[in-house]
Amino acid sequence: MEYITFALAKGRLAYHVLELLEKTGITCEEMKDKKTRKLIFVNEELKLKFFLSKAADVPTYVELGAADIGVVGKDTILEEGRKIYEVLDLDVGKCRMCVAGPKSAADKLKDGSLIRVASKYPHIATNYFYNKKHQTATIIKLNGSVELAPIVGLSDVIVDIVETGTTLKENGLEVLEEICPLSARVVVNEVSMKMEHDRITKIIHDLKGVL
Ligand code: PRP
Repeated sequence: MEYITFALAKGRLAYHVLELLEKTGITCEEMKDKKTRKLIFVNEELKLKFFLSKAADVPTYVELGAADIGVVGKDTILEEGRKIYEVLDLDVGKCRMCVAGPKSAADKLKDGSLIRVASKYPHIATNYFYNKKHQTATIIKLNGSVELAPIVGLSDVIVDIVETGTTLKENGLEVLEEICPLSARVVVNEVSMKMEHDRITKIIHDLKGVL
């Protein structure tokens, strides 16, 4: 029997997924040790492998077949635009992708004029402004603390994840438009879905059962 390999986005989400998998009878004791620096874990009995990677790399591992199954946020799936099957919404890590900024920027979103948009998600931002709103935008890629951009005058608005809204509120910003809801999703390699159909669909079915 071949191994089925899982790519999990490092961090809180990975531990949550391990708990869900455990409820379906899939365990990986070694991986639960939060102090370990190991990157790959094997369950010999069930012929499963698990590895942790940066969230943004999960769709790459899955599309290219280095992992058969991945668990990652919808934000990353949209941003990376990889050819993978999205098969299950785990309904955790729920938040929203939004356009946010100072209240005064609301007019700029309505009058269709050139707007400067800062984001960690340049593809999502480009797609939203060009294909959905049909508004010309200068997209500025940042790597974090994106809320700073409109405060210091780098951009008019941001496209970013809003979970509780606290970061926006504490920085005098607000949600101006909602782009889409987000949550953690299970994704599958297209070839693996055919070659290991029975084992993969059983895993997905069992996960659905414990949600
Ligand atoms: C995310 C996101 C917002 C914040 C939203 O940032 O980019 O900044 O969380 O959460 P809230 O609505 O509950 O305040 P993250 O913590 O990942 O850090 P980063 O901005 O440095 O990427």
